[in-house]
Amino acid sequence: MPSPAQLKKLQTVAKAAAVKAYAPYSKFRVGAAVLTESGKIFSGCNVENASYGLCNCAERTAIFSAVAAGERKFKCVVVYTPTKTATAPCGACRQVIYEFGPKIRVYSFCNGPDRIDGSIRSLLPAAIGPEDLD
Ligand code: THU
Repeated sequence: MPSPAQLKKLQTVAKAAAVKAYAPYSKFRVGAAVLTESGKIFSGCNVENASYGLCNCAERTAIFSAVAAGERKFKCVVVYTPTKTATAPCGACRQVIYEFGPKIRVYSFCNGPDRIDGSIRSLLPAAIGPEDLD
């Protein structure tokens, strides 16, 4: 679990990341921030493409950025959308988050009081994980 101060910082980082979103097609800007076990924060935004299927969500941008920096242990993922209701990670992002541990917590927030707060295991029940390939 992140501390209240960490969560606040993660929310600030995720909100700032949404400003960087490249979303000319959907116009739906998303920002994400991941907290590593070592206490580092990595951010990400959605990056769309004229070939729509290649759009990458903010959550995956953040996770991949952290992994590229050598991090593989995560405490939580925070998602921000400038909407009235909180946005849950899509199925693909849930699977990518789950890869790094069923206990990772996901928090989504928005411009209203709505929140999502749950473990990735609860968001993606009966998921396949690395241990299933042993
Ligand atoms: N998107 C995210 O980045 N994260 C989510 O949790 C939901 C969806 C992006 C993908 C696409 O660029 C746009 O939002 C509309 O689906």
